[in-house]
Amino acid sequence: MRELLADTAERAARYLSEIDLRPVVPSVESIARLQALGGTLPEHPTGPAELLALLDEIGSPATVATTGGRYFGFVVGGTLPAALAANWLAGAWDQNAAMQVMSPVAAKLEEIVREWTLDLLALPSGSGVGFVTCTTMANFSGLAAARSALLQRSGWNVEEDGLFGAPPIRVVVGEEVHVSVLKALNMLGLGRSRVTTIPADGQGRMRADALPGLDERTIVCIQSGNVNTGAFDRAKEICARAGDTGAWVHVDGAFGLWGAVSPFYAPLLDGVGGADSWAIDCHKWLNVPYDSGMVAVRQPEHLRRALSAGNAAYLTQSSGREPWQYTPDSSRRARGIELWAAMRSLGRSGLREMIERNCRQAKQFADALRAAGFSVLNEVVLNQVLVSFGPPEETRRVIAALQADGTCWFGGTVWKGHTAMRISVSCWATSDDDIERSISAIVGIAKAGKNC
Ligand SMILES: Cc1ncc(COP(=O)(O)O)c(C=O)c1O
Repeated sequence: MRELLADTAERAARYLSEIDLRPVVPSVESIARLQALGGTLPEHPTGPAELLALLDEIGSPATVATTGGRYFGFVVGGTLPAALAANWLAGAWDQNAAMQVMSPVAAKLEEIVREWTLDLLALPSGSGVGFVTCTTMANFSGLAAARSALLQRSGWNVEEDGLFGAPPIRVVVGEEVHVSVLKALNMLGLGRSRVTTIPADGQGRMRADALPGLDERTIVCIQSGNVNTGAFDRAKEICARAGDTGAWVHVDGAFGLWGAVSPFYAPLLDGVGGADSWAIDCHKWLNVPYDSGMVAVRQPEHLRRALSAGNAAYLTQSSGREPWQYTPDSSRRARGIELWAAMRSLGRSGLREMIERNCRQAKQFADALRAAGFSVLNEVVLNQVLVSFGPPEETRRVIAALQADGTCWFGGTVWKGHTAMRISVSCWATSDDDIERSISAIVGIAKAGKNC
């Protein structure tokens, strides 16, 4: 075992030390070689050392260098050194984080991370927190709590009696709602199309003035950090409107909620703490390994009622916080360990520095591309930039050429009818040199097309 783990560490260290030297995307040949991992399952065992060598030699070249400093697609973070190291140790521990009795350390670290996160993001300190796989599941969990609370107020027990015959719930979303919220509504039986959609402004913010009358059976889903522009719905105004009526406000704060750690960006989140539930992503901007997110609910009993399973005589429960009562899963890996490691290693100032550096780098992209004659389509308020290189086919050409070039990676989108290249700066490892190299690659490729 010792030799195997040392060999693993050696291979992983080599992979990470070479990440800056290789193209961000794997070559066609590397992808084709993945066939070597398949075929008929061998009849006889393969030794772990031989297997690891095969995985490294075939698998490593076919990875996308998302954990390096020049991947700007979707919203993708890397893995902080301390988070990766904690992930390895946690792998060796192999803890089941479901219950305190199964892993006191996992339960304690979740409790610590719950307190730190609520404090960092200026959310109500008594909130219940569940440790989930991603923002999609955080949205699901927060909205499950909302559904439970609103129906309970109307005298309906949705956990026991389901939705058939239940009093109707209205769900209000902005025109720019993220698809994961709609997926969550679908999974909860609330329907992805059975929503009231509010128009958005030019940056994708829900127009608070266009909200319909709210009541105690309405859920309003707002967004902190639009996936394209980084814009924030006006939480203060919306929460104030909801507060008077008993409506529930859920915040999809995937990456944007981390802006709260910086005094420069916190004003964008003004009023967010007045909501009822929040979906938070950790594998993006907190830079921990996949899969990791958190749901927070102001009144923990709603999350607990919505997600806890019934009793079974063999499942020992303590009187304290039992982790599995706040998540859709029962058995699961102890992802709170990496969250603790990431937060403790950065400290408050390190987290703030990382967020502010990425935002500054996003502005650097926007300024340089504007100066080079290209159009930046959004107000760069956080870490997201949208760029157009002219007609849609030209923007698509630039994106495809950059992806093939491999210096850096960007995806595309259509924003308000304009084809655009998305830039998301979300990785702890992105240096100013990475930004310079990426700007040179973009400008070079975009201008080369113009000269043809
Ligand atoms: C605003 C928003 N919500 C939800 C998600 C979905 O996150 P995940 O992939 O972790 O489920 C994203 C992903 O980028 C997002 O930007």
